Amino acid sequence: MATFLIDLSSDDMARRLPDALSVYVDAMHYPRGTEEQRASMWLEHTRRHGWKAVAAVETADDSPSPPPDELQAAPLLGVAYGYCGAPDQWWQQQVVAGLQRVGADRSRIADLMTSYFELTELHIDPGAQGRGLGEALARRLLADRTENHVLLSTPETSGEANRAWRLYRRLGFTDVIRGYHFAGDPRPFAILGRALPL
Ligand SMILES: CC(C)(COP(=O)(O)OP(=O)(O)OC[C@H]1O[C@@H](n2cnc3c(N)ncnc32)[C@H](O)[C@@H]1OP(=O)(O)O)[C@@H](O)C(=O)NCCC(=O)NCCS
Repeated sequence: MATFLIDLSSDDMARRLPDALSVYVDAMHYPRGTEEQRASMWLEHTRRHGWKAVAAVETADDSPSPPPDELQAAPLLGVAYGYCGAPDQWWQQQVVAGLQRVGADRSRIADLMTSYFELTELHIDPGAQGRGLGEALARRLLADRTENHVLLSTPETSGEANRAWRLYRRLGFTDVIRGYHFAGDPRPFAILGRALPL
């Protein structure tokens, strides 16, 4: 068996959506059934400006260069995607409200919001975590972006003691807002960001 990183077109994502959502639910330890709630949102995201998705797949043999159709059919170990942030997006509206609440001035908000890539999802199947795949997917997703910044949100965790936090800090993400509550979610989140290119 061998592991490869591939890009996913919007058609690929639509075709692989059940598997991609399964990786997401397992990685986040969400209850089964969360997939159905997220499916339409993930599909809607594929139509957003600047959308890009990447995946880690595992082939059955260890050929160093499998044909593209084999890669496109190989089981998913991880998935990541994002898109260009825009003022009509709920996430941007939430982040702007959060920035205003913590007293960020207009120029800081404009600087962050004018040109950013939202790293929306990044998940590795639990059985494949801790091998560097998450970092490799993040780097592939962020390569060649033309936005000025990358922003993301991640659940707060005590002492920043999980793989997601270690990865984001290792990649140079710094705090934008801490302990933020998105509307309708009781969990505190951190908004993190860094300048591009990575
Ligand atoms: C966060 C997540 C995407 C990180 O992906 P990952 O593949 O597990 O982790 P990384 O790519 O950061 O790999 C780093 C780990 O692999 C190890 N590793 C092994 N070989 C490596 C290599 N060639 N390069 C880099 N790291 C390597 C490192 O030692 C490191 O271990 P550590 O975290 O125990 O210190 C993944 O753990 C995950 O899906 N977590 C649950 C879901 C989640 O939190 N998603 C983000 C929500 S915002």
